[in-house]
Amino acid sequence: MLSPEIEDFSTSHARECCEIAKENWTHRLSKVYNQRIVSYFVNQCTPEKFIGSSRKGKIFVARVSQKVIGFVAVKFLEKKSLEIARLFIRPEYQNQGIGSLLIRYLENKYRNIERIIVRSAQLQETVNFYKKNGFRIERELERKVNDEVLREYLMVKKVK
Ligand SMILES: CC(C)(COP(=O)(O)OP(=O)(O)OC[C@H]1O[C@@H](n2cnc3c(N)ncnc32)[C@H](O)[C@@H]1OP(=O)(O)O)[C@@H](O)C(=O)NCCC(=O)NCCS
Repeated sequence: MLSPEIEDFSTSHARECCEIAKENWTHRLSKVYNQRIVSYFVNQCTPEKFIGSSRKGKIFVARVSQKVIGFVAVKFLEKKSLEIARLFIRPEYQNQGIGSLLIRYLENKYRNIERIIVRSAQLQETVNFYKKNGFRIERELERKVNDEVLREYLMVKKVK
């Protein structure tokens, strides 16, 4: 059983976080999104963008020795809600409890939060992962990305 350290994102993590996001877009999320959507998001993954988004919300990374094996990016919304903006685990470390650990970490850290929301990809293993962690599907969402329609689920977990 892996027991990674969880720590605040710093600029030194940006390159690895980028690599993890790109790998997931290319090898996992490409099962449900077409090539144009995948390319759009792969191109969005730059160290500069990670550093920018770490200033708008918070990013936590899971690390084993000196290697980043996953991360979660969150935003704080009104009404005591937290949004998981991105949650990615390195493909070779998936299904070993790291994603669940990051969610538990958020719940323990932000104890005043009443609900956590996520716009989940409509990928079976991802939806199952969130359900297993206490989220339920509230509704389907559609958003436009470069003239393509991206379908996601709004998933919610009530923590109080
Ligand atoms: C979804 C994700 C964050 C889950 O993190 P994880 O560390 O792999 O998940 P955990 O080990 O904590 O949880 C395991 C559960 O998740 C689901 N799951 C995770 N990976 C899976 C896989 N490769 N195949 C099938 N189910 C999987 C299952 O429900 C599993 O429970 P089970 O073993 O009892 O069936 C991670 O797999 C990931 O980065 N996926 C690709 C990117 C993605 O979809 N991110 C979310 C964007 S909204």
